[in-house]
Amino acid sequence: MCGIVGYIGEKNSIPILIEGLKRLEYRGYDSAGIGVISNERKETRVIKSLGKVSLLEDKVEQTSIDASSLGIAHTRWATHGEPSVVNAHPHFNKEETLYLVHNGIIENHTEIKAKLSKDGYEFVSETDTEVLVHLFDSLMKKGNSLLKSVQIGLSEVRGTYGISVISKNEPDKIVVAKKGSPLVIGIGDGEHYVASDVNALIGHTSRCVYLDDGEIVEITKDKFVASTIDDKDIKKEVHEISVELDKISKGDYPHYMLKEIFEQVNSVRDSFRGRILMSEGTAKLGGIERIAERLANSKRLLLSACGTSWHAGLVGEYMLEQFTGIPVEVDYASEFRYRNPIVDRNDSMFFISQSGETADTLAAMKEAKRRDALILGLCNVVGSTIARESEAGVYVHAGPEIGVASTKAFTSQLVVFALISVLIGRKRHLSLIDGQEILRELEALPKKIEKILKLNDQIEAIAEKFVDAKNFLYLGRGYNFPVALEGALKMKEISYIHAEGYPAAEMKHGPIALIDENMPVVFIAPKDSVYDKVITNIEEVKARKGKIIAIASENDNEIDKLVDYSIKIPDTIRMLMPILSVIPLQLLAYHVAVKRGLNVDQPRNLAKSVTVE
Ligand code: G6P
Repeated sequence: MCGIVGYIGEKNSIPILIEGLKRLEYRGYDSAGIGVISNERKETRVIKSLGKVSLLEDKVEQTSIDASSLGIAHTRWATHGEPSVVNAHPHFNKEETLYLVHNGIIENHTEIKAKLSKDGYEFVSETDTEVLVHLFDSLMKKGNSLLKSVQIGLSEVRGTYGISVISKNEPDKIVVAKKGSPLVIGIGDGEHYVASDVNALIGHTSRCVYLDDGEIVEITKDKFVASTIDDKDIKKEVHEISVELDKISKGDYPHYMLKEIFEQVNSVRDSFRGRILMSEGTAKLGGIERIAERLANSKRLLLSACGTSWHAGLVGEYMLEQFTGIPVEVDYASEFRYRNPIVDRNDSMFFISQSGETADTLAAMKEAKRRDALILGLCNVVGSTIARESEAGVYVHAGPEIGVASTKAFTSQLVVFALISVLIGRKRHLSLIDGQEILRELEALPKKIEKILKLNDQIEAIAEKFVDAKNFLYLGRGYNFPVALEGALKMKEISYIHAEGYPAAEMKHGPIALIDENMPVVFIAPKDSVYDKVITNIEEVKARKGKIIAIASENDNEIDKLVDYSIKIPDTIRMLMPILSVIPLQLLAYHVAVKRGLNVDQPRNLAKSVTVE
């Protein structure tokens, strides 16, 4: 949530900052701003705008600004204070000598504000962030350097932050610090970049340093010096960024979401590529090899995540229980800490996160660490906090996902759960033949996905009929129950139509009361072991005149007699069906939202990476 960019070097920082913000816009898009210090006269200049980065860009283009090779920028997702120009970042002191951008929440901002107000500081915004700028300003006015002021100031702060600060009094540096919100430094030749994630660095440099919690770094053109906030020197490791520029562009697609839905042919393949040991009927997952025995001997497997990743966890639960025989529990990361979870060193706990930065998932991970469970990360973003702070893990390798509604990361998470199930299963009682069957079915998925994507026009035509729907109900059983939840989530996230997912049989215990001729009901009804039961539920909806859309098996001609619309997809084994059955639901939500004229890549009020609790 909120994107931060910074630049120091020889180039004009302004286009770099704007481009960086555009690449981080998925983190928040209610307002944006840049703050720079000019090369010649060392003057500060701030420009802010309400709304998307493109509006800030227009404003910047209409303004004459001196060349500036030092600047910071921010795209906001409001927590404290409504989206407005005054609440947008950078925030600055009265004399406009100090600029600051922040991602996170300052929990004790009220206390700090009260203290600073007594000293005569006036606050103009409703944000928690503004206290930081005045706090650092007060320390600089006592004769401290920028670095020292930030260091001393942060020792008083409770909460989370990724911050970048520049000062007119020391116009040759950026000071950055991190606790709880991600920050990465890009290392160039005679220049440095700062960003919330590596997407903003791609094309500028392939070398970066990830900040860890409690670290502060002073960055000049030519070097960076890292220490802890309590002033201990530290050495940082330099990492290579392997993502290429074309991976984060929209290409010929109108939206990232559609591009990412279509990419699933390859992203699913990338998730199992090089990880299948067919002759042994097992999987090779380098990131968990070392602890694989402990994992296979766990008393319980616990899965924790938020949003779409939580839905992936629910499918993971079905897979892991079926093939490993180990009891599995799935928790919302946001709830895990607020009970007294019974977790100990005999448990292994997976934290599933596309971004690897979700604050609630991170907080749950810290709680599980305190209780000595084996901590595993299942992340998409390489080098993300969850990936770095877990003891072992598996990257899902879906490639950069930019659309706020998660699509390809979900299917890749399911592929990884299938691989983990085979790996642990084979160490327990899964037979060679059964292991091989799963792996062969995995390898067959990309071709089947290709076939499903060919249904895009048919799905678009169905979407046309439901553009004005007020509600949607999604129903599925067994492995396809979490798919019903995910289908409903996609619909509500991007189309703003109220949608609910339910286990098909539970419909009779409430949702059936909602069904009339205006209620579209989406059934996920492939020909599997629960097919007959689902058909009974379809009959029940039909009897009440609901409009039925069924995701069905390609050889199922009978179902057409019962439903209004059917989308026929190839079959696979039960455990892998969600990887196929979710794709028509992603496309349905996409087309309904587009036809309603909505911005599917940046739906209102949402952000892709939720770094506040
Ligand atoms: C946000 C995003 C969702 C995502 C969830 C969890 O709500 O909008 O698409 O599923 O966070 O994110 P994570 O990065 O942890 O998977």
